[in-house]
Amino acid sequence: GVTRLSGITPSGQVQLGNYLGAIRRWARDNTSGDLYFVSDLHAMTVPHNPAKLRALTRQQLAVLVAAGLPTEALFVQSDLVRELGALTWLLECTCSYGEASRMTQFKEKSNSSTGFRLGLLTYPVLMAADILAQGATEVPVGDDQRQHVELARALARRFNGAYGEVFVIPEATLPPNGARIRDLAEPSRKMSKSAADTSGILSVLDSPDLLRRKISRAVTDNMSRVEYRPDEQRGVANLLDILAACTGTCATDAARDIESYAELKGAVADAVVETLRPVRERTEEILADPAELDRLRAAGAERARQRCAHRLNSALRLAGVG
Ligand code: TYM
Repeated sequence: GVTRLSGITPSGQVQLGNYLGAIRRWARDNTSGDLYFVSDLHAMTVPHNPAKLRALTRQQLAVLVAAGLPTEALFVQSDLVRELGALTWLLECTCSYGEASRMTQFKEKSNSSTGFRLGLLTYPVLMAADILAQGATEVPVGDDQRQHVELARALARRFNGAYGEVFVIPEATLPPNGARIRDLAEPSRKMSKSAADTSGILSVLDSPDLLRRKISRAVTDNMSRVEYRPDEQRGVANLLDILAACTGTCATDAARDIESYAELKGAVADAVVETLRPVRERTEEILADPAELDRLRAAGAERARQRCAHRLNSALRLAGVG
């Protein structure tokens, strides 16, 4: 059968792109046995604040519950740190340095910082461990994560070939329309939780007022025409993509009957506020009951640990250790 697995990194507040591009889809497509997790260990590849990371991890878990994912499908990555640490080592000794250093995300992030953490290089190997530990067949991710899933595939094949069949070969599944939500203030780049300037980032937990203010200041252009032309009108196209995703139409249809940029921004603001309202309200309720959140987190950890134990022990044994 199919087992889906995917993760989200608590490197900042969950943003609209994560919700529309990933979380909402996970909740819609979810079937029994699928797994979704908060990849808090991945948030440590760049300088981080421990208290903030802990708080964001809880918040992210609460958002996943609020979005309608069944609690038995959820866990937090660091609750499996011992298992994943062991498997990451086996896979680091299966991966070549060249392979890891060719990852696009690594090249981009290591270029823009000096003295980056070694974990930034080995991050995709930990991601492969996440996937292979749970025996996932499908990994629903955005285009930005596809290369990492390809690496997981290559490592699984190589390990199986060298030591014996133990890992399931996973496959990346991409969202059908591939819509990538962009930063409102700088539409040339994707909306990202870890961006330093949050004026163009719509957070799932922003108040309706704040959402409206950010949308009203979104960058457009001086062409004064509301048409879906991503190459010529990136900012306007991004607003139409958001409107379409929130209202369940396509961007070209969403553009129809809208006369001005002011009208477009008003429609986007209404749609975003209404789309996020239930998730935000439910997240707040969940965070108000920390004992219940702790309980479901512990149960999820136990299930995920049990699920990977046998595979991990076999892999260690086949590699001649453990
Ligand atoms: P992360 O936290 O960067 O992103 C979580 C999911 O959201 C998608 N996404 C977007 N979709 C549309 N528009 C955007 N602007 C946008 N920004 C992000 C991402 O494609 C992703 O699906 N390394 C992973 C987490 C991870 C993981 C894994 C995933 C760790 N281990 C194992 C799958 C399997 C990450 O940082 O995702």
